[in-house]
Amino acid sequence: MKRDFLCLLSIFAKKTMQPKTPSESLTVMTDLVLPSETNPLNNLFGGELLARMDRAASIAARRHSRRITVTASVNHVAFNRAIPLGSVVTVEAKVSRSFKSSMEIFIDVWVEDRESGMRTKANEAIYTFVAVDEMGRPVEVPPVVPETELEKERFVAALRRKQLSLVLAGKMKPIEATELKALFE
Ligand SMILES: CC(C)(COP(=O)(O)OP(=O)(O)OC[C@H]1O[C@@H](n2cnc3c(N)ncnc32)[C@H](O)[C@@H]1OP(=O)(O)O)[C@@H](O)C(=O)NCCC(=O)NCCS
Repeated sequence: MKRDFLCLLSIFAKKTMQPKTPSESLTVMTDLVLPSETNPLNNLFGGELLARMDRAASIAARRHSRRITVTASVNHVAFNRAIPLGSVVTVEAKVSRSFKSSMEIFIDVWVEDRESGMRTKANEAIYTFVAVDEMGRPVEVPPVVPETELEKERFVAALRRKQLSLVLAGKMKPIEATELKALFE
């Protein structure tokens, strides 16, 4: 009985650790910019966009890991283009690489032209999420298998970004960040 249970457990663990593609975690959230979400210039307030990106990234991390996930770090945000009141904004998030328990999520933000419907990239961001158990302890997540050229580029660079994030957080010694250091040699 106990052996059957352990066997089932190991089959389940193997299944959940099977590699996943970034498209399996793709999360797309489209919403309007309302007056209460704008700054004095009538553009989308930065904090509101951060919250939308955090929500989309959290869903992508959950889809990849099928676990509870928490935001560990916001590694990069570029507010390249202001987003005016009334715009239709689409936030697209997907897991670009996973490590043991952490996942890098790449987020692209698009704004839709009202007349043509054409989408323009407005912003991008990179968040790190960690999968945890009910006690908040980190747990293992499946690996990522990138498919497209862009996904492959993001996958390779993710290790350098993880090292930079850990160095900035004081959780890794710069001397140990070998892939990051190699950029400057
Ligand atoms: C994120 C958290 C679970 C990490 O816990 P921890 O005790 O530091 O655990 P570890 O040191 O084992 O780190 C777990 C993973 O997170 C990664 N990590 C931790 N801090 C990181 C950072 N600043 N940048 C990138 N990765 C980070 C570690 O490298 C490790 O990755 P790996 O398992 O893939 O190798 C913990 O700090 C936490 O619960 N933070 C609060 C999260 C939260 O409430 N978020 C909402 C914001 S209000």
